[in-house]
Amino acid sequence: MLAIGSDHGGFELKKALLDVLNKQGIEVKDFGTYSCDSCDYPAIAGDVCRAILSGECDRGVLICGTGIGMSMAANRFSGIRAALCSEPYSAEMTRRHNDANILVLGARVIGPGLAEKILDIYLNTPFDGGRHARRVTMLEQVTGSDENS
Ligand code: RB5
Repeated sequence: MLAIGSDHGGFELKKALLDVLNKQGIEVKDFGTYSCDSCDYPAIAGDVCRAILSGECDRGVLICGTGIGMSMAANRFSGIRAALCSEPYSAEMTRRHNDANILVLGARVIGPGLAEKILDIYLNTPFDGGRHARRVTMLEQVTGSDENS
């Protein structure tokens, strides 16, 4: 099951991508927002991240105006690897090398056609594993503390 969520800035793009996913028969759970009314992106990001970490969903898509706020919020969760992608090459490589479990899109940065292409590559590219698995594990050990400086 794929989780999807957006704030008001990503609402229209989310609707467009939901149409595409539904047509492809891909199971999606929509965590909101459900209108163009202003809302807070960290809350939506949190709901999508918790759904992935609990195992309810395998991967997710988050959309806001720039994609930056959603990325910042999602990457605060241990076990979440959220990748903001604005072109297909990054979408391919973040699956192959980072095993990204959330794709983040900026609806005010890219158009729906490009977003659809990026999403398709993100969903259909497997993780390479090998040396990249070691590095992905290391991501969980990196801390932001300055205790030892
Ligand atoms: C909302 O106006 C906007 O701040 C939000 O969608 C996002 O771009 C934040 O990073």
